[in-house]
Amino acid sequence: MEVITVANNKGGVGKTMQCYQLSCHLASKGHKVLVIDLDSQANLSSTFNLQIHRTLIPEWLIGDVSIEDVMVPSEGKGDIHKNITVIPSSRHMANLSKLLILSEAEIRKEAGRKERLMKRRLEQAEGMFDYVVIDTPPMLGDELIMALVASRKIFIPTQAQDYSIDGLEELMDTFEIIKETENPQLEFSIIPSMVNTRRKIERQRLEELAQSFNITPPIRNLVQMQESISMRKPICKMGKKSKGRADYSELWESLNL
Ligand SMILES: Nc1ncnc2c1ncn2[C@@H]1O[C@H](COP(=O)(O)OP(=O)(O)OP(=O)(O)O)[C@@H](O)[C@H]1O
Ligand SMILES: [Mg+2]
Repeated sequence: MEVITVANNKGGVGKTMQCYQLSCHLASKGHKVLVIDLDSQANLSSTFNLQIHRTLIPEWLIGDVSIEDVMVPSEGKGDIHKNITVIPSSRHMANLSKLLILSEAEIRKEAGRKERLMKRRLEQAEGMFDYVVIDTPPMLGDELIMALVASRKIFIPTQAQDYSIDGLEELMDTFEIIKETENPQLEFSIIPSMVNTRRKIERQRLEELAQSFNITPPIRNLVQMQESISMRKPICKMGKKSKGRADYSELWESLNL
């Protein structure tokens, strides 16, 4: 079971888009996928047609409920959905920090540190899924740290714009700390997202980014990508001439997925 977290503390860079397209791509190849939405905005959950009143993710993480109590089959037609199970979010996700403080003593006894909770809980899913895809909120908080400790890979969507590139430094520092302390196997990929390749400035930023990091092929800014979300139709199911489908095919190939 390979765990992949999609993260960037900057908002609106295409994390949820990436999670949706990645989960659907893996499911379309016949893999069993568990999707975990750790963002209280619950955008990924709604894209899978799962609007729930109250998520029990905080209770699951601290060990009060089992994984079966938080998992829901994905809603939708077709083979893809049969292969996807979701742990949906809701705004109650915001209770996590409070619960972590209240349960500090039990957590220390059972998992050592709160950062290890997600890893510990995912042991219950071992053998049930081939992949776990985790969407995270736009901040360097408990959710993100726990997800990184539990993951093999972190995918970092980033825009080819000044502020996005500056913001990467903070995330990369967090990545390095987790790698050195809790998870030496953690690997990262920087994925240029929502890129407008017609703009010279963005092409330049992309080149600069490539000088500092090993970046993947970019995903362009395309109206079709927004349609994919509003129609709940993954890009891998769009027509063969679709530019978005072509971008994502190239991306998944470069990542051996
Ligand atoms: N390649 C793309 N082309 C065009 N629009 C896109 C693309 N990727 C994402 N978008 C749109 O940009 C907006 C932000 O994307 P998304 O919600 O995936 O970002 P996010 O990083 O998850 O945001 P947040 O930090 O709020 O969770 C959405 O409206 C989405 O449909
Ligand atoms: Mg999001």
